[in-house]
Amino acid sequence: MHANKPQPGLSEKAPGPGLSEHGLRTVLLLAFGGLLALMLVASVSALLSLRQLHAVEQQVASRFLSRTQALSEVVISVHIYDDQLAEFLLDDRAVELRESGPEIAERAAKVHSALRRYPSDGGPRERQLLEEIEESLSQQESISSAMLSLTPGDRKTRSPKFIQEQLLPRSLSILQVSQQIASLNGQELAKSNQDLLARFASLQSKLKSMLLAALTAGLVLSLLGTFYVLHLERQERERYLALADNRLELEKLSARLLDIQEQERRSIARELHDEVGQSLEALLVDLGRLSRLAPANEEAMRGQIANLKTLAENSVKTVRDIALLLRPSMLDDLGLIPALEWQAREVSRRGEMEVEVHPEMVSEHLPDEIKICVYRLVQEALNNAAAHASAKNARVSVTQGPERLEVEITDDGQGFDPQRVRGMGLLGMEERVKRLGGKLKIESRAGGGTRIMAELPLKLANSA
Ligand SMILES: Nc1ncnc2c1ncn2[C@@H]1O[C@H](COP(=O)(O)OP(=O)(O)OP(=O)(O)O)[C@@H](O)[C@H]1O
Ligand SMILES: [Mg+2]
Repeated sequence: MHANKPQPGLSEKAPGPGLSEHGLRTVLLLAFGGLLALMLVASVSALLSLRQLHAVEQQVASRFLSRTQALSEVVISVHIYDDQLAEFLLDDRAVELRESGPEIAERAAKVHSALRRYPSDGGPRERQLLEEIEESLSQQESISSAMLSLTPGDRKTRSPKFIQEQLLPRSLSILQVSQQIASLNGQELAKSNQDLLARFASLQSKLKSMLLAALTAGLVLSLLGTFYVLHLERQERERYLALADNRLELEKLSARLLDIQEQERRSIARELHDEVGQSLEALLVDLGRLSRLAPANEEAMRGQIANLKTLAENSVKTVRDIALLLRPSMLDDLGLIPALEWQAREVSRRGEMEVEVHPEMVSEHLPDEIKICVYRLVQEALNNAAAHASAKNARVSVTQGPERLEVEITDDGQGFDPQRVRGMGLLGMEERVKRLGGKLKIESRAGGGTRIMAELPLKLANSA
C-alpha cells in the first residue's frame, strides 16, 4: 500500500537558504558594522573632545596663575621699594645716600624687572594699566631722587610731608591699578570657565545623541537578530521534520521490501516443492513401476531406467534444497535451532568451513518474525564468511534471555573494516534487526576474524 503512494518526503528537497535570508544576513551584517562604527566614532570623538577640554582648562588655569604670580611680585616689590625708601628718608641717623642708595636703586630695578616679567600677551586694557604702573613708578623715582639728594638734616625735616603727600598716594595708586589688573584677570578666568562649560555642555549633548542613536540601532539590531534566529529555527524545524518524514518513509519502504522478498521466496519455494517436486516424485513412482514391468532379460533397459531414477532422485533433492534455502519449511516444522543446524551442516557439507551451532535455552515457540530474522542473519553471515573471509571455522550461538534473544556469529577468516565496507547483505541484516527494535553490532578487523552480534527484544516482537 505504501509502495504506490507518492513519497512526499523522498522527492522533496529540504528548504534551502533563499534570497530573503541572504538579504537579511546582509542587513544584519551591515547593521552590526554600522553600530560598531557608530560606537567607535562616538567613543573616539568623546575622548578627543575630553582631552581637548582638559588641555584648554589647564591652559586657562596656568595663564591665570602666571599672571596672578607676576602681579603679586610687582605689588610686593613696589611695597618693599616704598618701605625701603620711607625707611631711608625717616632714618634718625645721619645716613648718607652712598650707603643706602645702591640698595634703593636695586629695589627700583627689581620693581621694573617684575613688571617686565609680567606676561605680555594680554589685551590692550591690561597693557594700558601696566603702562600706568610703569609711569607712576618712574614719576615716583624721579621725585624721590630729589629727596634722596638732600642732606640728612634737610631730608629729616621734609620727609614726613613728602611721604604723606607724594609717596603714599602714588603707592596707593599703583596698588589700585594692580587691583584693576587682578580683577581683569579674574574676569578673563570667569569667561574662560564659561567657555569651557559651554563646550562641555555641547560635548554632553553630542554624546547623548550618539548614545541615543546607538541605543536605537542596537534595538533595531536585536529585533532583526531575534527575527533572524526565529526564522532559522523555523527553517531548521521544517528541515528536521522533512528528514524525519523521509526516514520514516524509508524505514517503511525497506520493511515492505523485506516482506515482499519473504513472500516471493515463500511462493517460489512452494511452487518448486509442490509443483516441480511433486512432478518429479510422480516421475520416480512411474519409473519404479516401469522398472518392475520391464522384462527380466532386458538388462540394458533396466540400466537405463535405473539411470533415469538416479537423475530424478538428484533433481528431487536439488529442488528440495533450493526450496529449503528459499523458505526453510523446517522453521515452521521443526523450529529455529534444527533449521540453523541444517544450515550449518549444509555449509560444512559444501566443504568450505566447519560450522558449530550452540543454542542456549532457546524456546520452540518463538514468534515467526524472530525466527525468520535469526535464520536470515545466520544465513547471510555464514555465506559472507564462506564467500569473502576464507574462514576455516564458524560458530553460531543463540541465547534466549527473559527479555531478549542474542545471536552471535563468529568466523576466523580474514576480517574487514565494517566502518567502511557495506553491501546489501550487511544492510539487510541491519534492516531486519532494526525492524524488530533490536541492535546489531559488527566487530571485525583485517586478519582478526569477524563477530556479528544481534540483540532482539522478545516482548516487543511478541506484542508487535
Ligand atoms: N565475515 C566476513 N569476513 C570478511 N569480509 C566480509 C565478511 N562479511 C562481509 N565482508 C565484506 O563486506 C562486504 C559486504 O558484505 P555484504 O554481505 O553486505 O555484501 P556481499 O556479500 O558482497 O553481497 P551480497 O550479500 O549482497 O551478496 C563483502 O563484500 C566483504 O568484502
Ligand atoms: Mg553477503
